Amino acid sequence: MRVGVIGLGYLGVTHAVAMATLGHEVVGIEASPDRLAQLKAGKLPFYEPGLAEAMAAVVDKGLLGFEASVDAASDFELFFLCVGTPQRSGSNAADTSFVFAAGEALAKVMSSSAVVVGKSTVPVGTAADLQKKMSEIAGFDVKLAWNPEFLREGSALEDSLKPDRIVIGAWHKESVEALRNCYEKIIGAGTPVIETDVATAELVKVAANAFLATKVSFINAMAEVAEASGADAVSLAEAIGYDERIGKRFLRTGVGFGGGCLPKDIRGFVARAQELGVGDAVSFLEDVDAINLRRRQRVVDLAEQELGALSGKKILVLGLSFKPDSDDMRDSPALDIALKLAAGSAEVTVHDPVALEALGDKHPELVRANNLEACFEAKDLVVLATEWQQYRELDPAAAIRKVANTTIIDGRNVLDIPTWQAAGWKVIALGRNVHN
Ligand code: UDX
Repeated sequence: MRVGVIGLGYLGVTHAVAMATLGHEVVGIEASPDRLAQLKAGKLPFYEPGLAEAMAAVVDKGLLGFEASVDAASDFELFFLCVGTPQRSGSNAADTSFVFAAGEALAKVMSSSAVVVGKSTVPVGTAADLQKKMSEIAGFDVKLAWNPEFLREGSALEDSLKPDRIVIGAWHKESVEALRNCYEKIIGAGTPVIETDVATAELVKVAANAFLATKVSFINAMAEVAEASGADAVSLAEAIGYDERIGKRFLRTGVGFGGGCLPKDIRGFVARAQELGVGDAVSFLEDVDAINLRRRQRVVDLAEQELGALSGKKILVLGLSFKPDSDDMRDSPALDIALKLAAGSAEVTVHDPVALEALGDKHPELVRANNLEACFEAKDLVVLATEWQQYRELDPAAAIRKVANTTIIDGRNVLDIPTWQAAGWKVIALGRNVHN
C-alpha cells in the first residue's frame, strides 16, 4: 500500500519504519525543516536502540522517503496522523492543535477514497470534531478512523511490529478494511484485533496509560507506608505480584514514572473528564500524579537527612532520562531530582550514557560528567535515578575508593544491597528498610 505518515516524532518515525518494514511504500511528512533534514541524512532526532539501522534498511530498499508537505502524497490511499499532543501550557489539558493542523492540511489535498487514521493520543471526542472539520474542508465525507499506538520507548519498533493488540475505532467499513490490509502480516501472526467505535478507541489509549500509572503509584504509595512502618515495598510487590490477578509487571517501586506519555496523559484525562462533567470518576488520578511527584521530593528529603544542609555538597546523580535505553527527559524523575538538589544549592554532577547530548546547554547549573568511573570523585552523596545497565554493573569496591562520603540512594531498587554494603557503602533504598 502507499502510506503517508504525518508527523515524525517518536511515534511517527517508528510507525513509518514499521510500515515500510512490512513492505508498504511509505512517505514520512514532517513540517520542521531541521528534523526533516536530519531524517533525510539518515539521523534519528532521538535515541532509540536499533531504529536507525532499521530506518536505513527500508530507505535503501526505496520503501521510505521523507517530504515537507502532504502535497507530495496527495494520491496516497492511507494516511496516519502521528503528530504530538503535548500538555497545554498553563493547563493540564492536551493540546490538539497539531492534530487539527495536520488533518486540515491533508483534507485540502487528499482523494475521497483515502483513509485517514489517527494514532496520536487525544482526548475522547477529538476524532469526531476532526472528522467534521476535515469533511467540511474536503467537500466529502472523510473516512477517519482511530488506531491508538501502545509502543514503549526503548522497544519502539518491536512493540509496533509485535503489538499485544490492534484497536480500530471506525465509522466507515472501508477504514477497517484498509487497516486490516495494512496490518495483514501482524494480524496473520496472531495479534488480536478489537474493532470498536471511535470514542472507545480514543479512550483505550488514555485508559491503558492511566492504569499503568496507577499501578506504579500504587506500589509507590505502599513504599511510603513501608518507609513509615519498617516494611519492605520490594518484597511486598513480589508477594502481591504472584497473585495472577495482580501480576508482577509495573510494580517496580522507586522514583516513579515520567516520560512523554504517562504524566501528561493522566492530567489530560482528568481535564477531559471534567469537561464531560464526570471529573469525579477519575479524580483519583490526581492522587496518582501526587504520589508520583512525592517520590521525587522523598529523594531530596533523604539527601537532606543524610547531608544536613545541601548547600555546597557534591552530589552525583546517575541517570537523566526518564527510563533506560532512551534519551527522553520529558517529565523525567531523574532530571527533576537533579534540578531540585541543585535548587537547594548542592553542587550536582549528572551522568547519563546517552541523554547528556540531548541536554545540550540547558540547565547550566548541572555539571556534566562523561566518564562513569571518574565521576564518583570526591562526592558527598550518590543518587541512582535511572536504572541503566551500566549502573547495575558498577563495581562498588572501585567506586567507593573515589567518593568523599559513602552513601548511595538507590532510587530504582536495582542495586544488590549486600554486595554494596560489603564493599563499605551505606545504601538507602526507596521503600525499603535497609540496615546499614
Ligand atoms: C508508556 C506506555 O507503556 C506505552 O504503552 C505508551 O504507548 C506510552 O507510554 P513509555 O513512556 O515508553 O511507554 O514508558 P514505560 O516503559 O511504560 O514506563 C513509564 C514510566 O514508568 C517510566 O518512567 C518507568 O521508569 C516507570 N515505571 C515503570 C516504574 O516506575 N515502575 C514500573 O514498575 C514500571
